[in-house]
Amino acid sequence: MSSPNPQVQSFDLVIFGGTGDLAARKLLPAMFHRFVDGQIPENSRIIGIAREATDDAGYREQMRKALNAEGPKAEKVDAFLKQVFYRSLDARKDAGWDDFAALMAERPDNVRVFYLSTSPDLFIDICTRLGSHRLNEGASRVVLEKPIGRDLQSANQINDAVGQVFNESQTYRIDHYLGKETVQNLLALRFGNALFEPLWNAEHIDHVQITVAETLGVGNRAAYYNRAGALRDMVQNHILQLVCMVAMEPPASLSPDAVRDEKLKVLRSLKPIDASNAAHLTVRGQYRAGAAEGQGVPGYLEELGDKSDTETFVALKTEIANWRWAGVPFYLRTGKRLPERVSEIVVAFKSVPHSIFDASAGAIANNRLVLRLQPDEGVKLWLTIKHPGPGGLRLRHVPLDMSFAEAFGVSQPDAYERLLLDVVRGNPTLFMRRDEVEAAWLWADPILDAWACSGESPKPYTAGTWGPSASVALIERDGRTWNDGGE
Ligand code: BG6
Repeated sequence: MSSPNPQVQSFDLVIFGGTGDLAARKLLPAMFHRFVDGQIPENSRIIGIAREATDDAGYREQMRKALNAEGPKAEKVDAFLKQVFYRSLDARKDAGWDDFAALMAERPDNVRVFYLSTSPDLFIDICTRLGSHRLNEGASRVVLEKPIGRDLQSANQINDAVGQVFNESQTYRIDHYLGKETVQNLLALRFGNALFEPLWNAEHIDHVQITVAETLGVGNRAAYYNRAGALRDMVQNHILQLVCMVAMEPPASLSPDAVRDEKLKVLRSLKPIDASNAAHLTVRGQYRAGAAEGQGVPGYLEELGDKSDTETFVALKTEIANWRWAGVPFYLRTGKRLPERVSEIVVAFKSVPHSIFDASAGAIANNRLVLRLQPDEGVKLWLTIKHPGPGGLRLRHVPLDMSFAEAFGVSQPDAYERLLLDVVRGNPTLFMRRDEVEAAWLWADPILDAWACSGESPKPYTAGTWGPSASVALIERDGRTWNDGGE
């Protein structure tokens, strides 16, 4: 039997922002796990780039700490770090770039992946210098971390400038939510089973809700976050991508453009929210001091040390104006400092047209398909059954429960593991095409404008609660409820 994790082609992964939080928390650990599974050829290198004046040894030491190299793992980490290098470069200065280009020239046959994990302000400078050193030629790819701009106009500037150096097929706009197992499993579930597709439409689905709740506050990311806010940081990208995966038409195949064409149609069909309806369809919140995981925590403004109208929570109701989804509300919600860390998609089906049961049997609850992205990835299909045993016919609502960890006995790989290797393999299916990013901003910009024009501040909520009460009212006034409590 062939290995489930075959080696990829030899590559150089160059991480701009190599000393940053994402590199230490996600990118290096992802590469280490793939190394342990034997997927990284010996000739491959991971090259951290940042302004900090350190060298290979200094960088390896930083990464050894980030990888928690203790006990039996230490030996493997040592072996992995032999493939890790560092160069100190300033994207805006010439010094060091010739030396870096010479380093790259040492392995001319390696696929080159340039991962831009820096502020988007530097994307243009970095790409321009990569181009002038002809590092964009041959098997070269650039990975752009979100946010790509802060509105349509700035996203276009970035995409235009990057496009001068790398063509679209070399450009990988990463949205790590697309690498999460459950999100990919949504494709398998929808298009690998005959069961769901006939029901997957406005005739049978009452509504869809997507929650991405975090217990963490903004912490040391306040400077970035305060310019972004929850709509730009989570909704414009991660949550809209989840909407696309739920709502898109079946693509003809899994080829990159077949999938992305269908996602684009969803984004373009989102009903506009603007100054005329934003007050009714959206709720913004900002956390105040409260509690997280049993500990007292400061409010957003204390963390920032300044005044701010940036939202740390958003809930909104949108619709997809097409034949499949007309009239089906999509309730979307995300926030920092909520009571638990949970990301899930709930597809709520309509009720049966007529009940044959006596009132004494209890109510028939509607079917729900709950796709949990984290923690405890899995899928639950809530069904109505008879309570077992004598005592008459009593109805119960129970889940067909497929927890991935239990079902397959393996821990799920992190999203970045899958996505980074997809870049090396040259497979952009799970990356955003330029027109998707544009369509997402086209929908998000009028909401941001409406909020700015309203002059209203976000509604306060206490850290450790489910956001402002207005977000509960947003869904309850339609006779529905958020799926809180993990059901
Ligand atoms: C990032 C956001 O893209 O996603 C963060 O910038 C957020 O603010 C993070 O915390 C959430 O990712 P995950 O995988 O932990 O749900």
